[in-house]
Amino acid sequence: MSPVGTLVVGCDAGHRFDVNKRGYISLLPPASRMTGDSQAMLDARAHFFDTGNFDSIADAVAASSVQALASGSIGPHGAEAADTAGSRPIRLAEIGCGTGYYLDRATRGLSQAGAVVEPVAADLSPFAVRMAVRAVPGAAGVVLDVWQPLPFVDAHLDGIISVFAPRNLPEFARILRPGGCLVAVVPTTRHLHQVRAEGLAIGIPDGKPDALTDAASPWFAEVDRSLVEFDMKLTQPELNNLIGMGPSAHHSAAATNTGPVQQGDVPGAHAAGEGRLAAGDATPANGEDAAAAGEGSVAGSVRLVTASVTVLTYRLTRSH
Ligand SMILES: C[S@@+](CC[C@H](N)C(=O)[O-])C[C@H]1O[C@@H](n2cnc3c(N)ncnc32)[C@H](O)[C@@H]1O
Repeated sequence: MSPVGTLVVGCDAGHRFDVNKRGYISLLPPASRMTGDSQAMLDARAHFFDTGNFDSIADAVAASSVQALASGSIGPHGAEAADTAGSRPIRLAEIGCGTGYYLDRATRGLSQAGAVVEPVAADLSPFAVRMAVRAVPGAAGVVLDVWQPLPFVDAHLDGIISVFAPRNLPEFARILRPGGCLVAVVPTTRHLHQVRAEGLAIGIPDGKPDALTDAASPWFAEVDRSLVEFDMKLTQPELNNLIGMGPSAHHSAAATNTGPVQQGDVPGAHAAGEGRLAAGDATPANGEDAAAAGEGSVAGSVRLVTASVTVLTYRLTRSH
């Protein structure tokens, strides 16, 4: 897929798609019933990011992107990676972009490192893509289903970011150029454990980073891994937005309300199994977790909640 004039995108087979007035194209089949995150979930997410509580995760994603794409210093294919992008812009897509928070941070990091970036914001949710193209200067936006063939020609992208989002690894391998990189963020079992203990967020299986590295190994080599873990002191509205922005909110009032939850609202999120996150991101919370309910309370209505994620960088070693 490439631009054909200003507001039309086309492929070699002659298909043409209009860029809508909101600045993105939709490549979902007309009858698709998949919708991705709701506007209410995205508003909750944007409000939560505004608090700065996840800044260190975004900074880690940006640092990994810069190291992999601008310095070419990571791993055995680093020099090749730097050479191949050469003087053309770095093509960086976040697939499952949500509000575009991580893509924006990575794009800014790369720009500060002297690179010219062509960001692409992709998500199943049209609300997400609309927000992301506004948030990330110069971004192209595409509504797509990651489980379908992705609308990029082979070896087109230099980098893909995937944060708490489903990953189609064979397709990622196909659309990345040789030596291209995937920066992925997965939660550890300690991520939001105080919230999961109350059944307000979905459970997390043990060993996700190793499981991802195993699943990626036919195409990707892990070249960097870092743990980002910190405690947050959250007010009740911040906590409500944290819960409202997560997968369990798909089945809650927070997902269907018109906006982010407000002070004093009690989120109705439950640990429903989320088949949508088919890459294994989600399993229902269990009874053992529930036994620890109440842990993490601090003075007043402020709650202590742990964020704990692994940031992984992979280099493409073999295309699809
Ligand atoms: C947990 S959110 C993470 C969003 C963003 N990366 C962040 O961390 O703020 C998962 C995102 O994946 C998107 N998503 C879910 N299923 C998808 C699919 N089949 N194809 C593309 N995107 C999908 C959702 O709409 C949502 O924006």
